[in-house]
Amino acid sequence: MDKNIKQKVKKIVAPVRLLGSYLYDLKNFRDYSFEFNSNNLSKDNLRAEITFQYHALEKGMCHNRIRLGYGLERRKRLLYLLRKWSDNNYQLDDKRYATGVAVLKRYIEMHEENNFDVSSLKEEVGKLPIGIENILGGYEEKEKEYFINARNKNFEQFSKSRRSIRDYGEDDVTVNEIEEAIELSTLYPSVCNRQAVRTYVIMSKEKMMECLKLQNGIQGMAQNIRSVIVVTSDNSYFGNLNERNQNFIDGGIFSMNLLYSLTYKNIAACALNANMNTKNIKKMKDLIGINKSEDIIMFISCGSYPEKIKYPISNRDSSHDIMSIIR
Ligand SMILES: Cc1cc2nc3c(=O)[nH]c(=O)nc-3n(C[C@H](O)[C@H](O)[C@H](O)COP(=O)(O)O)c2cc1C
Repeated sequence: MDKNIKQKVKKIVAPVRLLGSYLYDLKNFRDYSFEFNSNNLSKDNLRAEITFQYHALEKGMCHNRIRLGYGLERRKRLLYLLRKWSDNNYQLDDKRYATGVAVLKRYIEMHEENNFDVSSLKEEVGKLPIGIENILGGYEEKEKEYFINARNKNFEQFSKSRRSIRDYGEDDVTVNEIEEAIELSTLYPSVCNRQAVRTYVIMSKEKMMECLKLQNGIQGMAQNIRSVIVVTSDNSYFGNLNERNQNFIDGGIFSMNLLYSLTYKNIAACALNANMNTKNIKKMKDLIGINKSEDIIMFISCGSYPEKIKYPISNRDSSHDIMSIIR
């Protein structure tokens, strides 16, 4: 076929192939994610939702002023999922299952310390079989110095010290300090060095509050928040349909670099999801003045370190859990 005709055909077919690729993505998400399959949860769906539910309970424990009895629906759902796990005879030494039980136990302990009646929950949790006795669930507390000192240690120690901080100290964080962190994170790797990432640094308290209300992922927390950084990535920098998800990959890599850079520059931070429906994405873009061509990757709340910091334990899988060796 003539080269010109070939190019023309390719152009006509391209949108159809793009649609086909999105349908492939759609099927993958619809068939395997846990909300679409809530009536037929796979083992991995169970692990995921157990984590999702216990993480929210862990976050609730980090509040300075705890709303006793919080998370009733989450507790019920978590109990249901843990029972389902053991009824299916899945391994009881699975870390997600064991952490789920440990978080509920910590929840009960914390409520008993505050003389809040959780006896019926205690009875239900007592019936759950236990695989790992000594796994931790709930929160940890550290002095500010721990994070500040770790900045000058080697990468392993620095990386192990980084944590999402959701409540901040009284001290200010200036736009110049944030800019220094953003400058450092511009060394992120990106596909063909196309560097499609953009950042919007919100310093206005009013805009910040409006933004967090729409974001809806840090409800009631983030005391003394000084800035919200919106990380976006611009579709204009990508080419063919196989690059359709590259925004999210490069944007994610940049964001991780930024989280480390902020930590290194002594700014406490927490990544916040941008999983909004299309109506709220549009509202957010209008609010911040984000170009239509950009995808919002995530938000990052920033502030200074408070004297004492409570954060969820957020247990991790080990390399053994996540590594397959292909020989
Ligand atoms: C993309 C992304 C979105 C997140 N969204 C939220 C959020 O909306 N609210 C929140 O409190 N934490 C959020 N987090 C923080 C995670 O809960 C946290 O990274 C995880 O529990 C691991 O804890 P660590 O960051 O302290 O190691 C988010 C993290 C990422 C990477």
